[in-house]
Amino acid sequence: MTANRLQVAVLPGSGIGREVTAEAERVLAWFVRHRGLEVDVAHPAYGPEAYKATGRMLPDASLATLKGAHAILFGAAGGPEYDVIPAAEQRAGGLRFLRKELDLFANLRPVKALEATLDASTLKPEVVRGVDMVIVRELTSGIYFGEPRGIETLADGRRRGVNTQVYTSDEIIRVARVAFELARSRSGRLCSVDKANVLESSVLWREEVVKLHSAEYRDVELSHQYVDNAAMQLVRNPRQFDVILTDNIFGDILSDCAAMITGSLGMLPSASLSAPDALGRRHALFEPVHGSAPDIAGQGIANPLGAILSLAMALRHGLGRDDDAALLEAAVGTALGRCRTGDIAAVGQARASTAAMGQAVLDALEG
Ligand code: IPM
Ligand code: MG
Repeated sequence: MTANRLQVAVLPGSGIGREVTAEAERVLAWFVRHRGLEVDVAHPAYGPEAYKATGRMLPDASLATLKGAHAILFGAAGGPEYDVIPAAEQRAGGLRFLRKELDLFANLRPVKALEATLDASTLKPEVVRGVDMVIVRELTSGIYFGEPRGIETLADGRRRGVNTQVYTSDEIIRVARVAFELARSRSGRLCSVDKANVLESSVLWREEVVKLHSAEYRDVELSHQYVDNAAMQLVRNPRQFDVILTDNIFGDILSDCAAMITGSLGMLPSASLSAPDALGRRHALFEPVHGSAPDIAGQGIANPLGAILSLAMALRHGLGRDDDAALLEAAVGTALGRCRTGDIAAVGQARASTAAMGQAVLDALEG
C-alpha cells in the first residue's frame, strides 16, 4: 500500500453480487492498463465466509481497510448463505451498520432511460424516453435508525412493534446541501419529497429545506411533493423530475419505483457518500441498487451493468476521475446499442450472460 496511490476495497458480498462485481473488476483493470489509473485493490474478508472463518461478518481489520479506501465497491448482501449467521452478528456487520459507521449519509441513485432498453420498461416508451433524474436519499437516519425501536410484549399479552421516525435539523441540512449542489450542476431543479401533511419530522424537513434554499440556493428551482403524490408522478410523468431529495424510507421506496422506469433494477448504480474531512477525504461506497437475487445466483445470467455503472460513479465521486467516468458511461451506452434486439430484451430482464455483457463494455472501451 503506497500513500499516494488510490485505494479501492472490493466487497462482492453474496449471491449475484459476486458475479456482477467480477465484471466491474475486469473493467477497473482496463482503466489501470489503458488510462494510467493507479490503484491498490483490496478484498477484505466480509460476509458469510468471514463469519465462518472468524465468527465475525465484518472483522476489525476489514473495517479498517474500508475506512482507508477512496472507494468501496460493494456487490450485494443477503440470501440463504446468511441463514447460519446469528441476527445480532448480521446487524453488527450488515449494510445498515456500514452506512452508519462510515457516515454515508448521502445516497445518490441516478435513474436514466437508455434508448436501447426503452422497450424493456413496463411504461410506454413515450413516457420513459429522456428520463434523467437522480434521487438523493438520506441514508443514516430516519426510521431506519430512530430510537426507541423493538418488539415488546405488553402486560395483557399483546405484542407491540415500535420504530421511530426522527430527523434533526443538521441531518436534514447536510443532505439537502448535497441535493442543491447536484441540482445546480444539472438542470437546476430540485423536488423535495416528504409527508408534511401528517408527520412532524417532515414538517421540520420542509422548513429546513426552505430555509437553506432562501439562504444559499435561490438560483435552484425548488418544489415540494408529498410522497404519495410523488409515487404517482414518477409513473405518470417521470420526465418532470431532475433531482429528488428525500428521507431514508421514502427514498428506499421511491428508488425501487423509479428503477422500473428503466425496465431493469439490474441497470442502476448508486453512490453513498460521507462528508469530506479536513483534508477533503471522504468515505464512499458504490453498489448496484439490486440485491443478491438468490434465485438466479451462480448461473452467470445476472445483469452486471448496475455494478459497472457503480464503478463509473466510483471513478467520479471516489477516485476523482470524471473523464474516465464519462468514458465508461458512454461505453455502456455503446455496448447496449450494439446488442442484438434479443439481447437487449434479455438485459432488461437480467437474462443476458453476465460475462458477455461485461465483455461488450470492454469491447466498447477498446473502440
Ligand atoms: C436498499 C435496500 C436496503 C435498504 C436493505 C437491503 C436494507 O433495500 O439499499 O435500498 O432498505 O436501504
Ligand atoms: Mg431498497
